[in-house]
Amino acid sequence: MNLRNVFVFDHPVIQTKLTELRDVACDHRKFRTLLDEIAGLMVYEVTRDWPTKEQPVDTPLERTTGIVLARQVTLVPILRAGLGMADGVLKLLPDARLGHLGVRRDETTLEPVSYYQKLPPDIASTEVLLIDPMLATGGSGAASIAYLKKAGVTSMKFVCLVAAPEGITALHRQHPEVPIYCAAVDRQLNEKGYILPGLGDAGDRIFGT
Ligand code: PRP
Ligand code: URA
Repeated sequence: MNLRNVFVFDHPVIQTKLTELRDVACDHRKFRTLLDEIAGLMVYEVTRDWPTKEQPVDTPLERTTGIVLARQVTLVPILRAGLGMADGVLKLLPDARLGHLGVRRDETTLEPVSYYQKLPPDIASTEVLLIDPMLATGGSGAASIAYLKKAGVTSMKFVCLVAAPEGITALHRQHPEVPIYCAAVDRQLNEKGYILPGLGDAGDRIFGT
């Protein structure tokens, strides 16, 4: 498959946490903690190429020139499961604003159904991280990206935990310029659109539903 514009985190600490999280015996408390930690670890690489600007700063000894992010940041979790990654990212980017996109998969057609949208008014001028642990058929991610583009967003990245090859292909067919960051590219989808080996239903595992 074509992995152009796909970045897979092969870091041993992330992989160890992902393995623990896949385990069916991992309860919702541990699952939330691990997802939070992995999301935080991903931020470092995901933000590496963001533009910066110089900013004067007074140290206790003298004035110097420091470096800060050039643009504001907006984090957009896809509800529900994306919320499980939000706090981990916010720990590293505490000034980020949050937008929310409510999208659920229709269980029969697997098509995305949008039910809620709330974005910061100036999102178009910010760096956007769209977050959702699962990229399965790619429907939810592609619909969310299309919504963000309509809102004027020009710089965004899709950050997930586990991606299916089918989802990567589908998402990049519609939005090839949006980079996908993930901790694993799994084997395939099953007949119900679940990722194999995957980790099951991320929302249910995060929220204990
Ligand atoms: C899950 C997941 C993604 C979507 C991925 O959400 O969090 O949003 O499925 O599947 P796709 O790539 O085939 O669209 P779900 O629809 O289960 O909703 P939930 O987070 O509210 O449980
Ligand atoms: N959504 C999930 O939560 N898990 C999958 O495997 C596929 C879609």
